Amino acid sequence: MIPFPIHSKFTMNPTKTKTWSLLEAHFLEMKALTLREQFLLNESRAKDLSYEACGWFVDFSKNLLTTETIDLLLDFAAEQNVLEEAKAMFSGEVINKTENRSVLHTALRSFSGEPVLVDGQDVMPDIEATLGKMEAFATSVIQGEFQGFSGKRLTNIVNIGIGGSDLGPKMVYEALKFYSHRDLNLSFISNVDATHLAEELLSFDPETTLFLIASKTFTTQETMTNAQSCKDWCLQAYDGDEKAVASHFVALSTNIAKVQEFGIDPANIFGFWDWVGGRYSLTSAIGLSLMIALGVENFHELRKGFYEMDQHFISAPPKQNLPLLMALVGLWYNNFFKCESLAILPYDQYLHRFPAYFQQGDMESNGKGVDRQGNPVDYETGPIIWGEPGTNGQHAFYQLIHQGTKLVPCDFIAFAKSLNPVADHHEKLMSNFFAQSRALAFGRTAEEARAAGTQEDLVPFKVFSGSRPTTALLAEKLTPNSLGSLIALYEHKVFAQGVLWNIYSFDQWGVELGKELAGEILPVLKNSTTQQKATIKQSFDTSTDQLIKKYQDWK
Ligand code: F6P
Repeated sequence: MIPFPIHSKFTMNPTKTKTWSLLEAHFLEMKALTLREQFLLNESRAKDLSYEACGWFVDFSKNLLTTETIDLLLDFAAEQNVLEEAKAMFSGEVINKTENRSVLHTALRSFSGEPVLVDGQDVMPDIEATLGKMEAFATSVIQGEFQGFSGKRLTNIVNIGIGGSDLGPKMVYEALKFYSHRDLNLSFISNVDATHLAEELLSFDPETTLFLIASKTFTTQETMTNAQSCKDWCLQAYDGDEKAVASHFVALSTNIAKVQEFGIDPANIFGFWDWVGGRYSLTSAIGLSLMIALGVENFHELRKGFYEMDQHFISAPPKQNLPLLMALVGLWYNNFFKCESLAILPYDQYLHRFPAYFQQGDMESNGKGVDRQGNPVDYETGPIIWGEPGTNGQHAFYQLIHQGTKLVPCDFIAFAKSLNPVADHHEKLMSNFFAQSRALAFGRTAEEARAAGTQEDLVPFKVFSGSRPTTALLAEKLTPNSLGSLIALYEHKVFAQGVLWNIYSFDQWGVELGKELAGEILPVLKNSTTQQKATIKQSFDTSTDQLIKKYQDWK
């Protein structure tokens, strides 16, 4: 039984803190600030507002703030006890109050050797045991020892999952493809739309295909439907012989009973625990596809990158704490400038799924309208996350960011070294990375446009206001380690913002209603005879009934 109202011992309505009113007053002075002026006023601005940790150099200087803003924001973070709550999370306290759970993804990537207690029980031995089992299995697949039912090498690895059981492994696989075993095909099926499955399996041979069914609950409709259809597809190659399942299916789940019901060999179950949130499960058994595709060493390097950022977050002083600073800068735009979104713009094609990954990471965590006391919030919470890799985005949506009526804070992410140093591609990519944030920050005045020879009647169209905020994140090279630190940086930013906003970041009740209603509608759609169709009256609402009728007529 979960007690309600569920009070947090750490936080309160942010707008009722002492520092909030100071921030409001400061904002009134700051909102007319231009980045041109600020850079002229303070020669050391770039240096003063840049930070470095875990191989990431983060420059906040092209944001609409000053060192005074940062100091006030840090006072606010202290009032909301962000780092105290972080310690509670790391130590296994039940901070996910609405689900009555600890939140311990940090234990999954801990290299400290220290115990982590849940209900007085050290969870580290189980984590180590699962990692050991994953290592043995991944190695046997890579080396061709774990074979298909007919004795063939398994070269097609298909992860079936959705949300956190798909987006993380897919994003990291794409990001680290350079380091992957190129003789293995890794593929992901998530959508319940059979098109996804049909297209992914088109060129695969069932006898050489291994399915990893990734589902924390093992009840998610999409995943279970895809798993069943893939099982049917696979068994066709073996005249329906159920014994083949053990050679072609493994499960990554917390729900052992449901996995066994599906017919998977208990030896092929890689477990995890309810204190691992779906969107934070990348380094749990959910990462098995990555361990196979990237190899055991690279998977551990990725974990190490996470761990290093975890350690930074938990131990760095607030003034140098990158996740905390990113959280505060985000809140500054969200709650004071009233920006609706954050664009994540990686200047690296390998990171093309990174914005999509953090759409779930951020929006499922902080897309909440009720505070920790159960009251509707009267202030803004999580932003809309979106983005595409540079330079593609420049030829699509950057126009709005440069000259539109909306203020869109952007994160620009890049690496100094290219993994594919072909001709001068990387210099060109990086010149765009530097140029875009310069153009956004400093713009172009009418005088400058005229001086560049612009015809007078075109001058208004060629003026750029500037003072459009960007944060630059730069690392030396994309490696499993630097990627791990980058992911943990954003994870902890999201966590810190949840605390600042006095909301719970580790539940996701908002996805439930749609699931329930789909469950009510499905039986109606399955009624396909004329007589059954005729019986559909106003069972839902007039719009839905009308749409269903049209669908049935055209089907
Ligand atoms: O969309 C809701 C959600 O519960 C996510 O939080 C989760 O990542 C996803 O569904 C998949 O859940 P499961 O791993 O249990 O199949």
